[in-house]
Amino acid sequence: MSGKLLQDKVAVITGGTSAMGMGIAEVFLEKGAKVILGDLDQTKLDHTKDALNQAGDEINVAAIKLDLTSAESIREFLDKAEAAFGKLDILVNNAGVCIGNSMFDIPQETFDLTFNVNVKGLFEISRQFAKKNIAGNRPANIVNLASNAAKVCFEGMADYNASKAAVVNLTQSMAKELAKFNINVNAVCPGAVDTDMLRQCMLDAVKASNGTVTLEDCRKTWGPPQLGRLIQPHEVGRVVSFLASDEALIIRGQAISIDGGNTPY
Ligand SMILES: NC(=O)c1ccc[n+]([C@@H]2O[C@H](COP(=O)([O-])OP(=O)(O)OC[C@H]3O[C@@H](n4cnc5c(N)ncnc54)[C@H](O)[C@@H]3O)[C@@H](O)[C@H]2O)c1
Repeated sequence: MSGKLLQDKVAVITGGTSAMGMGIAEVFLEKGAKVILGDLDQTKLDHTKDALNQAGDEINVAAIKLDLTSAESIREFLDKAEAAFGKLDILVNNAGVCIGNSMFDIPQETFDLTFNVNVKGLFEISRQFAKKNIAGNRPANIVNLASNAAKVCFEGMADYNASKAAVVNLTQSMAKELAKFNINVNAVCPGAVDTDMLRQCMLDAVKASNGTVTLEDCRKTWGPPQLGRLIQPHEVGRVVSFLASDEALIIRGQAISIDGGNTPY
């Protein structure tokens, strides 16, 4: 048997077409897993799947449409995902939305969308995933993408900050309820990772500065000072792959800061 960390594991990665989803998928494939990407846009899913499959000799990637705001879409997605490689061992809850706005300007619909995807969608797919594994008497692993926003709260992102704090809290609740079924649950809290979401936050900051700050300024200064650069998606993938593995069974219900040492807890 190969000594790869995730050999023969099958992992679902939501938000699989984002830079973060792809970075996590690349690390999972390197470590021996098969991956199923879930996301909103089938064309983007197909491109991402082809790009990832090209890197390997076998077909180890599937890509299936998923809308986390619909329990029915989640059900259909998980049924197809299970059929793709015969089982589901790992769920990486990576999908998320972040729409910056001051607390007075956040429309109710934006607040609802942020919670519907980041919190309710994450919870719904986690419990449907858990039910499948409990029914099959299979151990499993869930890793949630929270954020350092859960711990430090960024200005102009009240709905996002609160949604990520809810993810940290749900991680603890799920870890407690699912431990007896051998399902382990943890979260990571990244700092600034080089993705489309971060680029949009930077563009918002450039706009708010009335031209005193440039995109290049943000790229230079938003990474953790200890690193002096933005975090790369595959670096998040390495930590997620460890938490998703059998090596991390004594870590339970944790929300681990992965922001280069910025957040001291
Ligand atoms: N980029 C960062 O600096 C950073 C930092 C901390 C945490 N995070 C978290 O990491 C995760 C990934 O972030 P990212 O930067 O790649 O964001 P992104 O916006 O680039 O990608 C998010 C992905 O989620 C998908 N998605 C959105 N709504 C969905 C829905 N209803 N159903 C299914 N998929 C949906 C999008 O299509 C997209 O592919 C998010 O949960 C985010 O909050 C990001």
